[in-house]
Amino acid sequence: MGGPDLTGRVGLVTGASRGIGAAVARGLLDAGAAGVVVTGRRPETVAAVAEELGPRAVAVSGNVRDPEHAREAVATAVATFGACDLLVNNAGTNPSAGPLMEVDLEAVDATWDVNLRAPLVWARAAWDGWMRANGGAIVAVGSVGGLTPGPALGAYNVSKAGLHHLTRQLAHELAPTVRVNAVAASVVRTRLAEALFATDPDGVAAAHPLGRLGEPDDVAAAVLFLLSDAASWITGVVLPVDGGLSGAAGPL
Ligand SMILES: NC(=O)c1ccc[n+]([C@@H]2O[C@H](COP(=O)([O-])OP(=O)(O)OC[C@H]3O[C@@H](n4cnc5c(N)ncnc54)[C@H](OP(=O)(O)O)[C@@H]3O)[C@@H](O)[C@H]2O)c1
Repeated sequence: MGGPDLTGRVGLVTGASRGIGAAVARGLLDAGAAGVVVTGRRPETVAAVAEELGPRAVAVSGNVRDPEHAREAVATAVATFGACDLLVNNAGTNPSAGPLMEVDLEAVDATWDVNLRAPLVWARAAWDGWMRANGGAIVAVGSVGGLTPGPALGAYNVSKAGLHHLTRQLAHELAPTVRVNAVAASVVRTRLAEALFATDPDGVAAAHPLGRLGEPDDVAAAVLFLLSDAASWITGVVLPVDGGLSGAAGPL
């Protein structure tokens, strides 16, 4: 059996210039999508990604925090490919580390803006620009840090916990027209997480019951499933994609 079938659907992926977002964009096209809009801040980078993906991909650059950028990306999907069925709220950032009592508040603003407020902004743009009238599916890329508190990434973890609840709230409000789900990833080999695994990749891998770090395609596979009709009776869930970390037994 192959992967999820997304034949004819049109997708929009934020933060698709590399990492998990780029893997999701490629996966959408491999699953038969009619088109995908890829976004990121640097015009030349997203243009290069779209070029590599081929004629079913279009780039729209901007800051994910900007509602006008979100509206433009949705409008581009509709104008270019005739729809905007699938939204992947993937763009994320982590400029702050350290205890919440000490972390720089401007970094907190940036983290919560990109990781939590922007997914709402993009859901509204997709709802207004296509999904209210035509239906669709939304998936957000959350984190195991949003499931369990940890010592180092408090501002990030709180943003992801908020994103998980935003997912549940939107699922409630947009049903039955639009399904809304999230994945909660553990450490995946991308630029964002490099500091977490660079010094001791084997040790970090060993903390996961499945014994390895995640790859962007591991997360993309779960995102594509949740976007597809194979998940047509699933909404409001936060699916751990974490090598078993969140289900691992603690000390006896
Ligand atoms: N890697 C992990 O271990 C891990 C674990 C759990 C969750 N996640 C989540 O997975 C998602 C993807 O991250 P990744 O690991 O693939 O990291 P990545 O390789 O660093 O990619 C992050 C993407 O987000 C985009 N982005 C960041 N800030 C942006 C902004 N203000 N406006 C527009 N685009 C912005 C970046 O684009 P530009 O820089 O080109 O603008 C880039 O395309 C994030 O939400 C992250 O929190 C990752």
